[in-house]
Amino acid sequence: MSELPATASPAKRKEIPTPDDKRRYNIYLYKRCLACFKPYKKRIVLGMIAMGVAAGAEGGTAYIIKPLIDYIFVNKDTTALLFLPLIFIAITLIKGAGRLVQNYMMQSSGLKVLETLRDELYTKIVKLPLSYYEKSQIGMLISRILNDVAQIRDSFPATVMVVRQLLTMFVLLGIVFYQIWDLALLATLALPAAFFPFIYYGRKLRKIGRKSRQVAADATVVLQEILSGIRVIKAFSTEKQEGERFDRENKRTYKFAIRRVLAQESSSVAMELVGALGVAIVLYFGGMKVVDNEITVGTFMSFVVALGLLYDPVKKLSVAYNDIQGALASAERVFEILDSPDINEEDEGRTTMEPAIDGVEFRNVTFAYGPDSAPAINNISLRIRRGERLALVGPSGAGKSTFVNLLPRFYDPTDGAIRMNGRDTREYTLASLRKNISVVSQDNFLFNYSLRDNIAYGRDISDEAVREAARAAYAHDFIMELPAGYATLAGERGVKFSGGQKQRLTIARAIAKNAPLLILDEATSALDSESEKIVQKALENLMRGRTSIVIAHRLSTVLASDRILVMDQGRITAQGTHAELLGSCALYAKLYAMQFGENQCKEPAGPGQSEEAR
Ligand SMILES: Nc1ncnc2c1ncn2[C@@H]1O[C@H](COP(=O)(O)OP(=O)(O)O)[C@@H](O)[C@H]1O
Ligand SMILES: [Mg+2]
Repeated sequence: MSELPATASPAKRKEIPTPDDKRRYNIYLYKRCLACFKPYKKRIVLGMIAMGVAAGAEGGTAYIIKPLIDYIFVNKDTTALLFLPLIFIAITLIKGAGRLVQNYMMQSSGLKVLETLRDELYTKIVKLPLSYYEKSQIGMLISRILNDVAQIRDSFPATVMVVRQLLTMFVLLGIVFYQIWDLALLATLALPAAFFPFIYYGRKLRKIGRKSRQVAADATVVLQEILSGIRVIKAFSTEKQEGERFDRENKRTYKFAIRRVLAQESSSVAMELVGALGVAIVLYFGGMKVVDNEITVGTFMSFVVALGLLYDPVKKLSVAYNDIQGALASAERVFEILDSPDINEEDEGRTTMEPAIDGVEFRNVTFAYGPDSAPAINNISLRIRRGERLALVGPSGAGKSTFVNLLPRFYDPTDGAIRMNGRDTREYTLASLRKNISVVSQDNFLFNYSLRDNIAYGRDISDEAVREAARAAYAHDFIMELPAGYATLAGERGVKFSGGQKQRLTIARAIAKNAPLLILDEATSALDSESEKIVQKALENLMRGRTSIVIAHRLSTVLASDRILVMDQGRITAQGTHAELLGSCALYAKLYAMQFGENQCKEPAGPGQSEEAR
């Protein structure tokens, strides 16, 4: 499906049929769905036994009509009549208990499968490379984890329903054939006709199901985007316009939901018609038999009831079949992510990286975001010494962010290699590599945890260590002014932090992480100069004793560094100290005049930018 981008890594999974090979693909999907239920075998077997009991009892209900009419009414036996209602109630009880147990067992297995699949999807999705997220829409992923998985849950109960209704059907068939075999034969002649609507509507519903899953995902995508962009929407008063976009998705949802209802109902009606055909035949020919005294009225009535009951399972069979089709439509979307050979988790090595960085080396590193795009990093070779403070300057779009994002392997070089401690970074496990690198950027994301847990994020450290990190980040004081202090939830209503405060919290987080390699990607560029001064001091504390790469837009930061790299169009065009570069590098001199000039006022942020910056 075109909705999903593939990740770049080569295929490594076992062979699975492609959607083009429809038959094999359907069988594969179906088996894949059923395989999810395997761990719940015991429950399912119990459920099936209960189902058999329920099916038997269902047949029994029809069977007791015969003695009622033939024996009790003819002989006017009131004692026996007394038993009959009791038997009826007993049978109903057995049937009810059977159904209850069956449904509990089946539904609980279904819900367990739902849980497992959601976990599996989550695990797979979070392990996909960042590039995957840039290409796909978050809402679509949410919809797959929540909506599509829920449909797969139906696949097994529906299969069981098919089995159960088939069982019931055979029991009832046995009864009608036992009673009047030739009449039964006549009546069931109509049955095969039922399979045409069965197949026809099944296909139709699968198609509708597929469409409606996609529409559901589209609606989630739009909603997700609207809610994340709500500030921009309000600022530009485009509520109505965006609302129309959402409304369009809702209308499509309605359209497919209604089509589904219509198809389901038409399928029911078609089934009933086939049933009516059978009953019509029986009414005439059976009636003749009664008139000719070949059979008693009781046998006839019992037969008609059994036959009437027989068409009910046929109808339910078609409903269950439709559910299976719906589940398959969703299964395509779920297993596409779980099993597709084109959607791969991040590759990683096995070596654990030791928590000290001896040096970083770029060897002829080239990187392009896509196969068709120009390289954002173009053949860079560079050594960074342990403890060195490196400043990276260059015009916007030069590739500075891309350059630093290669270090924690958010992206991998298209060509060349990055080495740390003498090994290619691809040889290390991702967790150990990333543990050694702290990134602070403008994007100061906080989780809705307490401030304490946000600072200690991902690490098991004491309250004292958290406070220490907060102090070094100049965050301790404003945290203490909050009524709940460190226990304050970051997203709590009424508690809003300024950009500078948030940035200091993320710096505290980076300090607490205590990684030897530090990357600062314009960490202060979204701040006003007042908070910038404090954040700058916090950053100084953070950089102390670490190897750091700083993408800078401030002269003070640049001056404090050991070496300055000038980047342009994916290349390092010059390097040296401030004084050296000022004399030798025209681009640096220009950047200096534009960005780092003395007495410069920070450019006032435009309306769009200030929306984003928050
Ligand atoms: N996620 C991305 N997908 C595709 N292209 C990107 C992505 N991020 C950046 N680029 C492109 O790569 C180039 C370098 O961008 P970037 O590293 O962000 O520059 P800088 O940080 O120096 O402003 C630019 O041409 C930009 O358009
Ligand atoms: Mg950048």
